[in-house]
Amino acid sequence: MGDNTIYRASTTAPVNIAVIKYWGKRDAKLNLPTNSSLSVTLSQDDLRTHTTASCSSTFSGPDTLLLNGSPQDVSGARTQACFKALRGLRAELETANPSLPKLSTYPLRIVSSNNFPTAAGLASSASGFAALVRAIANLYELHSSPTALSQIARQGSGSACRSLFGGYVAWDQGSAADGSDSLAREVAPASHWPEMRALVLVVSAAKKGVSSTTGMQTTVATSALFRARAEDVVPKRMAEMERAIAERDFDAFARLTMRDSNNFHAVCLDTEPPIFYLNDVSRAAIRLVECINAAAGKAVAAYTFDAGPNAVIYFLEQNAGLVAGTFKTFLGHLDGWQTELGNKLAGQAGVAADALEQK
Ligand code: DP6
Repeated sequence: MGDNTIYRASTTAPVNIAVIKYWGKRDAKLNLPTNSSLSVTLSQDDLRTHTTASCSSTFSGPDTLLLNGSPQDVSGARTQACFKALRGLRAELETANPSLPKLSTYPLRIVSSNNFPTAAGLASSASGFAALVRAIANLYELHSSPTALSQIARQGSGSACRSLFGGYVAWDQGSAADGSDSLAREVAPASHWPEMRALVLVVSAAKKGVSSTTGMQTTVATSALFRARAEDVVPKRMAEMERAIAERDFDAFARLTMRDSNNFHAVCLDTEPPIFYLNDVSRAAIRLVECINAAAGKAVAAYTFDAGPNAVIYFLEQNAGLVAGTFKTFLGHLDGWQTELGNKLAGQAGVAADALEQK
């Protein structure tokens, strides 16, 4: 009798937003970065990918992936690298225990959905690959640690390795040629700084113009500023950021976050041809944060932008009224805010003030 069972496992993975940005690869095949990075994992209630992975001997044809109902190409090297690594670990278990079903040989059916706009600079590849890797690891009953899974997810998308942890997460660049020490690690759990909030302002839900992968490759090849960022600026900031988080020093956390976002976008502008991710609404958000902080006499809000115009504003719960309220008053009526999703996300984040992932 053949095994007709359909094996299935589901999981969710949250979005993370870097406060010290990853930008540049020293090895494009293994997805090894030119600098370490550090991020904050957001609440799964607001921004997350849900993924179900199934496999069965009764499935035929190649592996498939549906994202928000649309078939995706899984033949790319990154997705294949994740599948291969996970199948390899499962095959080891099957060799050690021959009575286990041979799931590693069955076609995979993956179904994923995001509750936020895909590829709008909202780190969809981060939660996407983190959920994909964890769903298959669960399906294969691998019991791998988040650190071990981070090494696999990194090959799908660099920032995905950080979405395997909640709270404050570093991705150490590592130095090994095979990437075995380029791993994510928890700097502090979300409970360490429970007052931290993130407001996500969807300036545009449109797909971004220059993908992170293409953009960072062009930066590495052409920008003169880039070397200083990777070699001098970021290593110092990583240490300062870890200290700011350990001491719950919001003023330092905010200043480092804003300076690193600006340094990253300066490097983008220094790329040939230049890459523009920020738009007029993004710049209005920057000026508004500068005004709020100037009036408060210290940093009570911090902006950061990834590879797109959408702003993420960090602040502490006790300043929620001031920060979220000021944004609503001054930017709530702008055209860029009028998309249905923009209202939904900005509204959710503003009202619920996006509690961080509690783990
Ligand atoms: C600006 O992780 O999307 O969001 O490894 O090529 O998939 P690939 O890049 P990706 O880049 C993220 C860049 C960033 C900064 C960050 O998240 O650290």
